[in-house]
Amino acid sequence: MAAELVVLVGLQASGKSSFCAERFSATHVVVSKDDFPARKREVRQRRALEAAFGMQKDVVLDNTNPSRGERLWALERARAAGYRSVGYYFESRLAVCIPRNVARPIGVRVPEIALAATAARLERPSLKEGFDRLFYVCLREGAFEVAPWHEDP
Ligand SMILES: Nc1ncnc2c1ncn2[C@@H]1O[C@H](COP(=O)(O)OP(=O)(O)OP(=O)(O)O)[C@@H](O)[C@H]1O
Ligand SMILES: [Mg+2]
Repeated sequence: MAAELVVLVGLQASGKSSFCAERFSATHVVVSKDDFPARKREVRQRRALEAAFGMQKDVVLDNTNPSRGERLWALERARAAGYRSVGYYFESRLAVCIPRNVARPIGVRVPEIALAATAARLERPSLKEGFDRLFYVCLREGAFEVAPWHEDP
């Protein structure tokens, strides 16, 4: 079977990294800009993805990945490498994510303005971008609920 690229999409504190740890960390290479120094994040991330693609490893991209433009490169490279791509879109209401971010320990908490900036760039993913499958993820009372995707008309 083809290797898999998983792209997580959602605001800060929407639950991506927790979901990633629960679901993918045992089976997928986890690539996240958070692991790289600020100055070279994009280049380092692309290098890490290319390395995984080169070895045909399942890989998960754990960033906010809010806009189509920011997802494009990974989806195109994955396709060229014979991967299937799966997206998980996290419920990203500011009314939910802001209090969850505030409740985080200092150090993991991000400034509220960063959530607003991401919210302004956020574009729901679409199968047209190159995803083979999409899912909608909600964090409810401590458990992740994964629901089928409804493509925007
Ligand atoms: N299973 C859970 N039950 C209850 N709360 C949870 C659970 N998983 C995560 N959270 C809460 O959600 C918060 C955000 O989770 P997480 O760090 O996974 O978000 P994120 O989307 O990766 O954010 P960022 O984009 O900033 O990395 C956590 O700090 C925690 O308070
Ligand atoms: Mg995270």
